[in-house]
Amino acid sequence: MLEPDRLVPADVRRRLVALREAIHRQPELGFEERETSRRLYEALGELRPAALERIADTGVVARFRGRERAAPVVAVRGDIDALPITEETGLPFASQRAGVMHACGHDVHAAWTVGVAHLVAREPATGDVVVVLQPAEETGRGAAAVLAAGALAGVSAIFGGHVDRRFAVGQVVAQAGPLAASADTFTITLRGAGAHAARPHEGVDPIVGAGALVGALQTLVARRVNPSVPAVVTVGTVHAGTAPNVIPDCATLSGTLRAVDPDTRALLQRELRRVAEGVAAAHALTADVALDIGPPPLVNPSQPADWARRAAQRVLGEGAAVPLGPLNLAAEDFACYLEQMPGCFLRIGAREAGGPAIPAHSPRFYAAPESIFVGAAVLAETARVASAELRG
Ligand code: NI
Repeated sequence: MLEPDRLVPADVRRRLVALREAIHRQPELGFEERETSRRLYEALGELRPAALERIADTGVVARFRGRERAAPVVAVRGDIDALPITEETGLPFASQRAGVMHACGHDVHAAWTVGVAHLVAREPATGDVVVVLQPAEETGRGAAAVLAAGALAGVSAIFGGHVDRRFAVGQVVAQAGPLAASADTFTITLRGAGAHAARPHEGVDPIVGAGALVGALQTLVARRVNPSVPAVVTVGTVHAGTAPNVIPDCATLSGTLRAVDPDTRALLQRELRRVAEGVAAAHALTADVALDIGPPPLVNPSQPADWARRAAQRVLGEGAAVPLGPLNLAAEDFACYLEQMPGCFLRIGAREAGGPAIPAHSPRFYAAPESIFVGAAVLAETARVASAELRG
């Protein structure tokens, strides 16, 4: 049984719930989180941090002093952006903006990260704790912008988490190994020669080539990737043509490549190009392949995952740490931080007792309010444990 009083004091709980509901009502897309950012800056400012600044356009970073000035610094990151979805939850604090919604729970991440600030302000870690409110996670660009701003200079380890309705409130996944996939976006333009649809021999038809290519790209996972390794190739858009009786000049396909290890990721990128060019050549077309490199795979290293699991068990009890179960090949740009420093990304249960398991990015998605307190308490304690361990 979850005891909220043991996680976060009642006065702080009230403030975090109010903050979450205010952010949920006024959702903002990546790099447009001005109102959200203003609220978070204000909420952190009230805690009198040692430093407070705006970074990466709409991000906010605050630093809270530890007990020892020279001890290693640990960061806790929460993302704050919403999605272009029209909300259908019927919640009393549902989105007031048509077509924009916190359908991934980043409203809760923002609130629990402010909760971490409250908790480490009251009970400091060994070293300083830097709280990072990151914009634009959904576009895969926010973490890179935070790093480019230099906000994590001197930080020794970073922690963060995501709400997850596959798990009940009070359950936490803090484990080593892969947790999310890389996400690289491709666009392939096939060029031929337009003609009258009744005289195909006078042109070079890119639509027939595009049809062959959609099928051929599925052989990357089926025939090139080791079957024991997860990977995805999805063609998400196919565009060509203007009329039933016209063969167009070109056809364009776009899609996503997902992998959970760097070698598979590199193989998919390489083979995509080879197959696209080969299929194009077989149809007398040319292929122009553009790759937009997204976040890398998120793989938790073992020692920080161990610290996070111990912290979760200390806060919630021994039984709180549960295994991830089947891997989800969604992406998470927290992986960009783990390329620079050790850390751990957690999944934090957000399903209320008896509630349904609604997937993130659904118009009916919401996270139970108690997940705010769990996230705050577990991440604050993780920062304390990591800080003490790094201090040695
Ligand atoms: Ni998310």
